[in-house]
Amino acid sequence: MTTTHPAGTSTAVAARATELSKVYGQGETQVVALDRVTVDFRGAEFTAIMGPSGSGKSTLMHCVAGLDTFSSGSVRIGDTELGSLKDKQLTKLRRDKIGFIFQAFNLLPTLSALENITLPMDIAGRKPDKEWLDRVIKMIGLADRLSHRPSQLSGGQQQRVAVARALASRPDIIFGDEPTGNLDSRSGAEVLGFLRNSVRELGQTVVMVTHDPVAAAYADRVVFLADGRIVDEVYEPTADSVLDRMKQFDGKGRTS
Ligand SMILES: Nc1ncnc2c1ncn2[C@@H]1O[C@H](COP(=O)(O)OP(=O)(O)OP(=O)(O)O)[C@@H](O)[C@H]1O
Ligand SMILES: [Mg+2]
Repeated sequence: MTTTHPAGTSTAVAARATELSKVYGQGETQVVALDRVTVDFRGAEFTAIMGPSGSGKSTLMHCVAGLDTFSSGSVRIGDTELGSLKDKQLTKLRRDKIGFIFQAFNLLPTLSALENITLPMDIAGRKPDKEWLDRVIKMIGLADRLSHRPSQLSGGQQQRVAVARALASRPDIIFGDEPTGNLDSRSGAEVLGFLRNSVRELGQTVVMVTHDPVAAAYADRVVFLADGRIVDEVYEPTADSVLDRMKQFDGKGRTS
């Protein structure tokens, strides 16, 4: 399936949520974390998800990435409906088609940077595509640090290793939940620049949750959530335009 992008390019949908709802608990303690969310994530596009704390950002990402179950609606990764998969098939899809970057880098301390990058593929018994791996490593600019352990790398370098690990298997889509949340602004900028390059140069699809308007400005589009619903969308965001939107929502929140 294809849609037309504001930039005029026609791109396939890498992931789609349709009328997606997620309800926690029952009765009085019930929390509607997602309320009939419909959203597309197009191929080779960098999307940021923003919204107040508790608005459902992590829930949306976890449901679309097959890490969490949902109450109703549907989720597609490429042409595959997640709801139709058995546990084993879902695990395989996550392993083969999806890359993750977490706030804590989750690198194994006893392995070198290179071993960390290829670990998921080693576990899956897959051989990395050497040419692709070389490209990824060149792009993260860590070619001379590959034999270092995580403790010998800066926070920004460790997160770049985590991004390379997510990219190494050429997943259809990469999800990051505040991937720069633990980094200082300079290291954060390195990682965000790298993520953006992976979209521009390698055609990677990236979806990132962030609280930071500066981080969101690296994306091609920002989707705003409030109370489990999508309330706005901005293309070609700048830090200022994102900040303006955030202020509007804050204002609405106070008056309602
Ligand atoms: N396991 C759970 N049980 C009950 N409620 C939950 C659970 N996980 C999340 N929630 C609720 O669902 C809503 C959405 O949570 P979610 O973690 O998606 O928010 P978020 O937008 O990622 O917030 P933050 O910016 O603080 O990370 C919140 O009201 C939260 O309290
Ligand atoms: Mg969250």
